[in-house]
Amino acid sequence: MYKPLATAALFAVALARSTRTSGAPAVYCPDAVEDVCYSIAVPERSASSGSGNIYIQLRAPTTYQWIGLGQGSGMTGANMFLLYADGTGNVTVSPRAGTGRVPPLENPNTEIEVLAGSGIVEDGSGGEMMVANFRCGNCDSWAGGQMSLTGTATSWIVAWREGPALNTLDRDAAIQQHDSVGQFTLDLTQATVGEDSNPYVGGRGGGPQNSDSSGDGSEGVGAPANGDGAVTPVGVNRSLVRILTAHWVIMFIVWLILFPLGSVLMPLFGNWIFHATWQSVTFVLMWVGFALGRFAFNRFGETGSTHTNFGTVIVCLMVLQPIGGYMHHRYFLQHKRRGAISHVHIWYGRALMLMGVVNGGLGIRWAADGEIRGSPLMIAYSVVAAGMAVIYLGGKGFGVARRRRRGAAAAEKDTNSSVDGNGEAARADGPRRPFP
Ligand SMILES: *[C@@H]1O[C@H](CO)[C@@H](O)[C@H](O)[C@H]1NC(C)=O
Ligand SMILES: *[C@@H]1O[C@H](CO)[C@@H](O)[C@H](O)[C@H]1NC(C)=O
Repeated sequence: MYKPLATAALFAVALARSTRTSGAPAVYCPDAVEDVCYSIAVPERSASSGSGNIYIQLRAPTTYQWIGLGQGSGMTGANMFLLYADGTGNVTVSPRAGTGRVPPLENPNTEIEVLAGSGIVEDGSGGEMMVANFRCGNCDSWAGGQMSLTGTATSWIVAWREGPALNTLDRDAAIQQHDSVGQFTLDLTQATVGEDSNPYVGGRGGGPQNSDSSGDGSEGVGAPANGDGAVTPVGVNRSLVRILTAHWVIMFIVWLILFPLGSVLMPLFGNWIFHATWQSVTFVLMWVGFALGRFAFNRFGETGSTHTNFGTVIVCLMVLQPIGGYMHHRYFLQHKRRGAISHVHIWYGRALMLMGVVNGGLGIRWAADGEIRGSPLMIAYSVVAAGMAVIYLGGKGFGVARRRRRGAAAAEKDTNSSVDGNGEAARADGPRRPFP
């Protein structure tokens, strides 16, 4: 699954650069952030035996509250490592188990050892960097998955958050949600080092060093190797990100604004042609949004999520709504009153609108990888949805009140009051014209 890509579409466009040097740790520095780098090295001994130590370096300016690296393609089930300041001039490396829905908790089963070269170091340009060099003794498998130490396309995720230092030795310290995330695949056969020892000290290995850090993030990051780099950033396809952005913008407008407005305008104006035209245009827009989403999700290899399945069901069910509307219209023309089909049309539409709004929330949750708490987009979405619900109910209430008023006036005049499917009364004066 490629959720970081979706998240990128929602929050930022993350690019990445990468490189490697033969016989050296592989380095990944997301382009979206400055001077944050992740490095991984597999000793030959571990590669040949299929298990054993790997060496990891995490580095970030102290303006970051924490950064994280995870083995896996999404937060759920990932074997993660967080880096934050420990308050004593050194850093805390916290192994965590990714659950997807809540901030990850410490995973005491991961065997790690923080090594020399770790600490808070000068970055050479007046700033400070948090650096962690550590060994993981059992990173070939964990509770949620496994990783071949000779895999040529292993999946990794990264995340970061800016903010004041956590300054704690607690490996289970509470953390707040990431600012952004990234994803890359790594050819571990191109990240091998000869010796089973810390490759990040003593100028060995060609990996990023601590002491000669120039502060521009370029150490250990040369020009990207042409096509033979160990690291392949995932999430760089701007056109896919644009398509996904278009999908959610269109769907937001369709489900939170156009469909409810089109529905509520019927009793307000009592004009069925206006209603039918408005909702038909929205119907077409909905299919455009659906096609864009379907295309993007397929390219992401994301086919079985609740959001995509539910969304497909909803747009297919929506096909019946114009048919129901037409049948309701025909019925009203003939009988000058609502029939069962009218109520079906009205309530079917309301049910679908509600499902569409709920599915929008599922989409945001999907993109945030299950983390909805405090997501600004989710809050904004809920606020707009609630505002729209108020407008919708207000409009409906207004329509009902007017129908009652006119119904009463019509009864007094002893005329046959016509009431349309959405509660609109035909005018008692003037030529009778139904508004189904
Ligand atoms: C940080 O801790 C590691 C592991 O104990 C140690 O090797 C390193 O020297 C420490 N760094 C500093 C700056 O004290
Ligand atoms: C990005 O995705 C589009 C649509 O799938 C594809 O045509 C294009 O080749 C991709 N670009 C890159 C750089 O992968």
